Amino acid sequence: MNPVQGPCPVTRFRRTRRTAALRDLVQENTLTVKDMIWPVFIRDGQDIEEPVPSMPGVSRLSLDRVLRAGEEAATLGIPAICLFPYTDPELRTETCEEAWNPENLTNRAIRALKREVPEVAVMTDIALDPYNINGHDGLVKDGVILNDESVEALVKMALAQADAGADILGPSDMMDGRIGAMRAALEGAGHKDVAILSYAAKYASAFYGPFRDAVGASGRLVGDKKTYQMNPANADEAIRLVARDLAEGADMVMVKPGMPYLDICRRVKDAFGAPTFAYQVSGEYAMIKAAAQNGWVDGDKAMVESLMAFKRAGCDGVLTYFAPALARALA
Ligand code: PBG
Repeated sequence: MNPVQGPCPVTRFRRTRRTAALRDLVQENTLTVKDMIWPVFIRDGQDIEEPVPSMPGVSRLSLDRVLRAGEEAATLGIPAICLFPYTDPELRTETCEEAWNPENLTNRAIRALKREVPEVAVMTDIALDPYNINGHDGLVKDGVILNDESVEALVKMALAQADAGADILGPSDMMDGRIGAMRAALEGAGHKDVAILSYAAKYASAFYGPFRDAVGASGRLVGDKKTYQMNPANADEAIRLVARDLAEGADMVMVKPGMPYLDICRRVKDAFGAPTFAYQVSGEYAMIKAAAQNGWVDGDKAMVESLMAFKRAGCDGVLTYFAPALARALA
């Protein structure tokens, strides 16, 4: 008996791991900055980069700085930026009308980016939480998150973002029927080429904590989001959600969070073959950063390994706060 495996021929997997050249030859997946979407937090004002304490290296940017981020994306080869607004507290109301104000922060940022760096795709987030007095993604009445009324509001928000020139709309609200309603409204308004990347399988997760700090929703959220975001115990339901959103007109779908849900990414990709994205969310970013700052892991290596895992799990792309750092690490 040879020591490696039963009968001949002898299988020695270490032959193809012996040198870097051989390892490169047999490498199955490739990490490239071309698959990254860079989430960016925006705020009002001028010349402001306001650090988010729970996300080391991430800041809320005033519009002039967002344009610089857009130029940086273009230089680094990052194909898309996703905008998340920190809304002034006075503009947060129960009815959320700031969400579809054509002049709101996000819509101004979309127009400025498309004017200055048209080659970078602009993605948006569609949910009411940055505008809602109670931090929820939908309209709330007597403690209940209203589905159909919320969808009407979200459609107005989608149309305002499409009017401003967004390339990709990202509904993250998890109301039922929103993709179909948005797609019909977009077609009706002549926005036939605006893509929808649906947050189709979005879980009610503890890993969104730092994001809620960044958009100023942490202290506000009344209760939790379990009546609309998914139960982390479920997997078959994710497949049914993706099927529904694709049927309603989504062009691309997302699994969120990322690292704890790689099984879902693989199943979604295998089941549909549609463009599949994962969101490596704020808490995942914060964990890697915190461990690196303590010297407990090598931050760059952990970043690259975590992002490669998404490719291996079948994802076509990843939303990650590491996008510019990855571009630099790979350069
Ligand atoms: C808003 C939204 C959230 C995230 C993206 N869009 C937070 C939430 O659902 O509470 C989280 C992203 C992250 O944690 O990085 N609907």
